[in-house]
Amino acid sequence: MSEPFYITTPIYYVNARPHLGHAYSTIVADVVCRYNLMRDRATFFLTGTDEHGDKIVRAAKNENLSPKVYVDKISGLFKDLCTELRIRYDHFIRTTDPAHIAVVKHILRKIYDSGEIYFSEYEGLYCFGCERFYTDRELVEGRCPDHKTEPEVIKESNYFFKMSRYQGWLIDHINNNPDFIRPERYRNEVLSFLSEPLEDLCISRPKTRLEWGISLPFDDNYVTYVWFDALINYISAIGYPDGELFKKFWPHVNHIVAKDILKPHGIYWPIMLKAAGIPVYKHLNVHGYWNVDQGKMSKSLGNVIEPLQIKNKYGLDAFRFFIMRDMVFGLDSSFSEESMVQRINSDLANDLGNLFSRVLAMAHKYFSGEIPEVDPVLEQELQLGLESNAIKTIDKFESAMENFEFHKALIAIWEFISRMNKYVDTTAPWELAKKKSSIKQLEAVIYNLLEGLRVISGLIYPVMPDTSAAMQKHLGMNPNENYYNLEILKKWGAIKSGTKLPKSVTLFTRVDLKKNVLYSRENASEQILPALKPEISLEEFNNIDLRIATVVHAEVIPRAKKLLKIEVDLGKKRTIVAGISECYAPEDIIGKQVIVVANLKPAKIMGILSKGMLLAAFDDNICAVGTVDKKIKSGNPLN
Ligand code: ME8
Ligand code: MG
Repeated sequence: MSEPFYITTPIYYVNARPHLGHAYSTIVADVVCRYNLMRDRATFFLTGTDEHGDKIVRAAKNENLSPKVYVDKISGLFKDLCTELRIRYDHFIRTTDPAHIAVVKHILRKIYDSGEIYFSEYEGLYCFGCERFYTDRELVEGRCPDHKTEPEVIKESNYFFKMSRYQGWLIDHINNNPDFIRPERYRNEVLSFLSEPLEDLCISRPKTRLEWGISLPFDDNYVTYVWFDALINYISAIGYPDGELFKKFWPHVNHIVAKDILKPHGIYWPIMLKAAGIPVYKHLNVHGYWNVDQGKMSKSLGNVIEPLQIKNKYGLDAFRFFIMRDMVFGLDSSFSEESMVQRINSDLANDLGNLFSRVLAMAHKYFSGEIPEVDPVLEQELQLGLESNAIKTIDKFESAMENFEFHKALIAIWEFISRMNKYVDTTAPWELAKKKSSIKQLEAVIYNLLEGLRVISGLIYPVMPDTSAAMQKHLGMNPNENYYNLEILKKWGAIKSGTKLPKSVTLFTRVDLKKNVLYSRENASEQILPALKPEISLEEFNNIDLRIATVVHAEVIPRAKKLLKIEVDLGKKRTIVAGISECYAPEDIIGKQVIVVANLKPAKIMGILSKGMLLAAFDDNICAVGTVDKKIKSGNPLN
């Protein structure tokens, strides 16, 4: 057996229902874990919920529930989500578990006894959403960059952890271990935080303000700061300090988080470990945000995509495929149902689904559903490079998966799928089937195609476990054997001649987007509106020359679907091209007083020089031009 492998997700706050972002991190961990199973590694997969702290108390109050009843309920939703998403975790931790609480106290005591925790008065700017103090430098125009709220000034006596002592050590550690934090952009971000003096970390909250937490072992008037409590889950869950799991798995840990919690994971956590005398983690893997339109999707902004709705409508594997294929790990991605449907139709239903049903239909038609015996020489001769192509694909897949480049792993598989589709076209089995003399060739071609499908079924296993199993079943593979194993996958010829194939199935059906779109503009509340653009100064605004113009002439531009050529009076006449012809016939707009941006750089549109822009608003099938509600002299400015 090769090296053990330990993977974690963040433990999620239970102050609201799970959304797409949580589903993504958890699915990534599941994919990585399944990939490591393919490598025959012993794996341990941890996920769970973060249940203490102020925002949990407030969320419970909102629902008129006690914190305990409330956290049980929401934690249950996160657990159910795992079941629905086919997440095969080994342990689901809750920070209210007694075993976790004991470890937090143990570590606090250890660090306290070594003299690295002190008591002091502190006044600072506190964001209740983040449950932490902010320095001025971290605020954006005086507001929390995440919650967009102004932090409150709080003054109180608290316990502090001497984090600053470890700043130099951490910088060295990051420099000496280039893949400690990855991708590189986040490593650089942490180094840039560390280029300024690090402040000590306030690790307590007085019980007069917050009771829902773990009592400090050395002062019962205080509870532990929620981050100091939460981070410890990664070791309490596997039996720190003496447990066998801890010994076996901790040296091989990979954390997965999004960039919102880079600082606690990139700075607090390694320093906490160091101070407690525990080896630091091996890798921190940081991904970007799922956005909706331009804005971050988050509970506090109220624009969330519900993973179970998507899964129930489009199917689990299609959902898992889409989010793994669409997001480049490390970068942000914008969720759109349209692009998801497009991928389902092209990559899944068309490329993979058709290949699978074509090949199996031929195996049934020409060989009564039995994998043919093949002449090894002919089999080699008729491969046309398929085998070496499969091996190359597996290599590309492996190196992409090792680097958390899931989209690249999937691209490599789909290149092979397209190669297989070409193989069908080139070898034209239906032609071979016409003549008795080419039956041996036909056997070899079908055998090679079934072999290729076997390789594909193994490679898609981490991302699409159900589809993988369905394919293997219909390829007559024994479900008790480990066909996902990478070494077995590489052995061309593993599929057994003479095996009877069950009747084929359709893996994916095409989707018609127009039917019941879940997140369409029509049934969306304001969440789907584009995010507000950054503020501009009055001066910048004054640079935009808005004028009243009267439309004196309008005509359709031939061959342009949406454009009208409009002549307006702005004091002087000028021509503007506007994309409103789907809503306005020329006669509808002539005579209207409209608002135009008069100083926009002229641009040629369909060969016509358009001088300025007419303001209009669009909403699904309608558009409306901006006008004024009383008659104003043409050319007058708006301000
Ligand atoms: O921060 N895009 O919990 P949390 C992608 N309890 N991923 C997203 C996302 C988005 N728009 N929004 C959330 C906490 N996530 C702490 C963690 S760990 C010791 C304690 C995912 O409920 C992503 O993994 O706010 C992010 O890091 C996490 O949810 C934050 O979850
Ligand atoms: Mg959060």
